[in-house]
Amino acid sequence: MSDSPKLVRRPEWTALEDHRAAQLHPQLRELFAADPERAERYVVTVGDLRIDYSKHLITDETLALLQELATATGVSGLRDAMFRGEKINATEDRAVLHTALRAPRDAVIEVDGENVVPQVHAVLDKMANFADRVRSGEWTGHTGRRIRNVVNIGIGGSDLGPAMAYEALRAFTDRELTVRFVSNVDGADLHEATRDLDPAETLFIVASKTFTTIETITNATSARTWLLEGLGGDDKAVAKHFVALSTNAGKVSDFGIDTDNMFEFWDWVGGRYSYDSAIGLSLMIAIGPDRFREMLDGFHLVDEHFRTAPAGANAPLLLGLLGVWYGNFHDAQSHAVLPYSHYLSKFTAYLQQLDMESNGKSVDRDGNPVDWGTGPVVWGTPGTNGQHAYYQLIHQGTKLIPADFIGFVNPVAGLSDGLKAQHDLLMANFFAQTQALAFGKTPDEVRAEGVAEELVPHKTFKGNHPTTTILARELTPSVLGQLIALYEHKVFVQGAVWNIDSFDQWGVELGKVLAKRVEPALSEGADVPGLDSSTAALVATYRTLRDS
Ligand code: F6P
Repeated sequence: MSDSPKLVRRPEWTALEDHRAAQLHPQLRELFAADPERAERYVVTVGDLRIDYSKHLITDETLALLQELATATGVSGLRDAMFRGEKINATEDRAVLHTALRAPRDAVIEVDGENVVPQVHAVLDKMANFADRVRSGEWTGHTGRRIRNVVNIGIGGSDLGPAMAYEALRAFTDRELTVRFVSNVDGADLHEATRDLDPAETLFIVASKTFTTIETITNATSARTWLLEGLGGDDKAVAKHFVALSTNAGKVSDFGIDTDNMFEFWDWVGGRYSYDSAIGLSLMIAIGPDRFREMLDGFHLVDEHFRTAPAGANAPLLLGLLGVWYGNFHDAQSHAVLPYSHYLSKFTAYLQQLDMESNGKSVDRDGNPVDWGTGPVVWGTPGTNGQHAYYQLIHQGTKLIPADFIGFVNPVAGLSDGLKAQHDLLMANFFAQTQALAFGKTPDEVRAEGVAEELVPHKTFKGNHPTTTILARELTPSVLGQLIALYEHKVFVQGAVWNIDSFDQWGVELGKVLAKRVEPALSEGADVPGLDSSTAALVATYRTLRDS
């Protein structure tokens, strides 16, 4: 048991409570008016990312107090232990080394006395060789036809990362290849992904860290049936059409995939931190090994920044602490991530797993219940669409919703001149929204427009909604890596302050166990002893209405 004081009894915590109580309504209008240099001072640049945090409900004192909390809770010590390969995932007795996945070839990072960097690069080289062979047509299917379709089968971290990054980097992909992602055990997902594909030209990538995940193994088994039916039933076809990404060679082999066709990763890579490992193979095939390596370099750049930048200019630390400020001292329950890029349409869904599976915890590292808030609900979709849907609530609702706005100065290459010209309109919305959220519109400003008095309250925007603006020149593989590493480390910082294990995910287990128990009741009408009356009635209804 730790003998350090409970988080909420630390003087650094109560100092923040007092600070919050003393400035009940810090107004962004006033903060900006009082400090003409605020916008220049509250900016941090990391690689290609310019991160403006001036539109937050903070002063220099707030930042100083938050930094003191980070120091008191040992954030930097835990960070260094993570980078050193110590087993900071205590409940699973594992190191947490996704940072090793993007370390340069000559780095030395040891787990249990063994340098893991050579293994990382050996797998990357094997992936690159395979990706090149598929992309060039040298790797053919069982009948000798070129592979034109790649279907990744995985779920959670074995799906969201590569699916998000494929979408994000679509402009860099080989457009001759069809790349799809199947995750849902709903048979409709595999059906829709394969219905117009030719099995002779289709490669399945079965992605599963454990290779025991029921959704993935079920879909992979159905995919194998689809393939063999399409290719005349010769089992040998599997070797040319199935590869595996996993830490579990035994299970891969049990499934019938030759371990020569397996791309390995390790138990020190968490599922939600894994798309820059072998789990990224589908992405590497789509964008090519060079682009994939550029992405890894982007990750590494931010890793180094997080590891070495001073506290006051350390972007993940600042963003993490701002989240603590709102979640714990302003009672914010959620955090919106609003990318102004169509290519980032899956970005927030990816972050949901990264953040909510990591920090959705209610006991501390010693197993004691926490009496402070932990991870927020993370949500959002690409910005302009959200503007015409839920932004109303952010602007005029009663909830405080801190938001990240992510935008790019230039559209990606490949758009026609006419479509490129639309980018200014997109970005005008991007800038306008953070401005409107921060500064609002006062009743007097509304009146000055001649608005009828009874409508003034409806047309008033109280403003003071905090946002971070992340701006980069262009969405490239490196910038994507930088963004993801930024959020990974932000999540880390918050878990460290809250003293929770951000790297386990026991909360997903109970539902899995219960599903296994209930499934025979649905398919065979088997009796499930001890079922509660609500679930029993629902199951009975299901059985009654089930066709066949
Ligand atoms: O059930 C949650 C989870 O374990 C995630 O953490 C993980 O990303 C996902 O399932 C998939 O796991 P696997 O890669 O082992 O199939």
